Amino acid sequence: MRIAVFASHNGSNFQAITEACKSGEIKGEVALLISNNKKSQAIARAKNLHIQFLHISENVEPNEQLRDTKISSLLNEHNCELVVLAGYMKKLSSSIIDSFGGKIINIHPSLLPKYGGKGMYGSKVHKEVLKNKEYVSGVTVHLVNSDYDKGKILSQQTIPITENETPESLAEKARRVEHHLIIKTIKEIIEKKNRLARYEKKTK
Ligand code: GAR
Repeated sequence: MRIAVFASHNGSNFQAITEACKSGEIKGEVALLISNNKKSQAIARAKNLHIQFLHISENVEPNEQLRDTKISSLLNEHNCELVVLAGYMKKLSSSIIDSFGGKIINIHPSLLPKYGGKGMYGSKVHKEVLKNKEYVSGVTVHLVNSDYDKGKILSQQTIPITENETPESLAEKARRVEHHLIIKTIKEIIEKKNRLARYEKKTK
């Protein structure tokens, strides 16, 4: 399976996915990294990992329609069958969601539907969780639709909150859990696709 990853900043999930593909744990290949941030660590990681990348943002292409066309054409050119939003802090436009419907997944650092929606991302999530004195937090991988963080949940894992937890320590724990969960979820998607292909072959 050919995978495109979108990331805005650090890119540790992008790296975890890429390494799992390179080691053969995921039977797939990261074909492309797309980032809206030229200075992101994600782009630096793509260079080190020899993954093709594209920096595209309002600054590079102010016209939204042209921007979407460029992203869609690139995903098509690279035959990407799965798009993973891994710390991508921009909402995907409905035209991209429509054309890749059902093939876009997002990693979110909370137990959705809690602490999701517009404005809930990155450290903001962890701050809010701690402000509300929650005992557990977690991470979610879900399908992307046009409603922020509302697509079908594919997998979740809880994270216990310890005494003296800070937004930073919680973010670090979340990242570690996410690396494991996103790899597991991608493997499940690939297995499901292969099962379906086998079934279709048999019933032909
Ligand atoms: C991850 O914790 C991810 O869940 C979060 O950004 C972080 C990116 O880490 N995404 C969101 O908040 C999206 N709503 P990374 O850049 O090290 O992979």
